[in-house]
Amino acid sequence: MGRVDSKHVIVTGGARGMGAAFARRLATEGARVVIADVLLEEGAALAAELGENALFLPLDVTDEGAWTEVVAVAEERFGPVSGLVNNAGIVHVDPIEELSEADYRKVIDVNQVGVFLGMKAVVASMRRAGVGSIVNISSTGGLIGYSNILGYVASKWAVRGMSKTAAQEFAVDNIRVNSVHPGIVATEMVATSERSQSIASTQPIARPGTPEELANLVLFLISDESSYSTGSEFIADGGFTTQ
Ligand SMILES: NC(=O)c1ccc[n+]([C@@H]2O[C@H](COP(=O)([O-])OP(=O)(O)OC[C@H]3O[C@@H](n4cnc5c(N)ncnc54)[C@H](O)[C@@H]3O)[C@@H](O)[C@H]2O)c1
Repeated sequence: MGRVDSKHVIVTGGARGMGAAFARRLATEGARVVIADVLLEEGAALAAELGENALFLPLDVTDEGAWTEVVAVAEERFGPVSGLVNNAGIVHVDPIEELSEADYRKVIDVNQVGVFLGMKAVVASMRRAGVGSIVNISSTGGLIGYSNILGYVASKWAVRGMSKTAAQEFAVDNIRVNSVHPGIVATEMVATSERSQSIASTQPIARPGTPEELANLVLFLISDESSYSTGSEFIADGGFTTQ
């Protein structure tokens, strides 16, 4: 028996990186998984690899109409949605003085507005499921500051507060909402960044995390094993924020 046998979970940004690891782990533990991403080829390939309990649907998380469509198609295929991992995210690097308004807004749109639209889109379906768990992927950038990524940090702090507010609003419907705060994790987002490598080398567990290590945490939060946790922050950062 799998740990999330009865669950139907949408994973945004699920075509690669951490999102792909979340989709794989959830599927292995018995969930029906919808991979939603702007990366069409990678998303379709992963869904094909995972088999009949996985489905790829194109989704730009900033598009409210597309969210409505994704939830409708997902529900038609797998029944009411009981899990959502708001994982899609982007980063833009520039010091504040050189950061354009357009680049700032773009990061806020994907990382922050995308999470809002996702929570809004799934809540009715989760109510029909009778149970729900929403996992919003923030960052250690939602707990502290990092120079040169102002929009990213602003969006990730917002996600942390939005998760607490949604936890309060949705508890009556048996829907839990938590935020996850990864430190440096070895994905394409950070692979080429010397800064990330040097951050990881100075922390108590002196290496980047793996997507699979984060997938273990997300699996726990989607499963009923975390039934008493809502509005909470779950950190997996090799101890970086203890310093
Ligand atoms: N890698 C890290 O060190 C790290 C640390 C802390 C938090 N995070 C967060 O984890 C999440 C996943 O990051 P990752 O490292 O796997 O990055 P990644 O770049 O490998 O994956 C991000 C995914 O999001 C998708 N995406 C981007 N914009 C989208 C949009 N508008 N609509 C739908 N999908 C979109 C991309 O296509 C991609 O599949 C992000 O929210 C990121 O901010 C990453």
